[in-house]
Amino acid sequence: ATVYVLNGPNLNLLGTREPEIYGADTLDDIAGRMEDHARTLGLELDIRQSNHEGHLVDWIQEAAARQAHAVILNAGAYTHSSIAVHDAIKAVEVPVIEVHLSNPHRREPFRRRSYVGMAAHGTIAGFGALGYLLALDAAAKL
Ligand code: DQA
Repeated sequence: ATVYVLNGPNLNLLGTREPEIYGADTLDDIAGRMEDHARTLGLELDIRQSNHEGHLVDWIQEAAARQAHAVILNAGAYTHSSIAVHDAIKAVEVPVIEVHLSNPHRREPFRRRSYVGMAAHGTIAGFGALGYLLALDAAAKL
């Protein structure tokens, strides 16, 4: 079973981007730990990042077309703005697990609304990079 792990804008900068909020791990560090954990769960991963909203839409559609087991999605700031990503999640059967490194609810008010969360199967937020591994555990149990 394949799990798509989709990362949105500015997550390519993890490691140097506001480390007091997002931690010191790079996306490659996180991807390596996810691959190790996925192996123990018997899952295949397809891990991607883009700064472009439409890529996230295309990849959610692709995950569905390829009958992926689940999608783990950190849509970055598009979480709070993208009706297109929301609609893509609603348009497909594949379960989407929303992940955030930080807890958007304890930050600026503009982060409180999640168009991803309104369509996702569930959300894991506020546990830093560990959240991606928790999302894998959740995906394995779906
Ligand atoms: C984030 C939270 C978003 O509000 C922010 O725009 C990000 C990262 C997180 O993982 O904590 O880019 O999705």
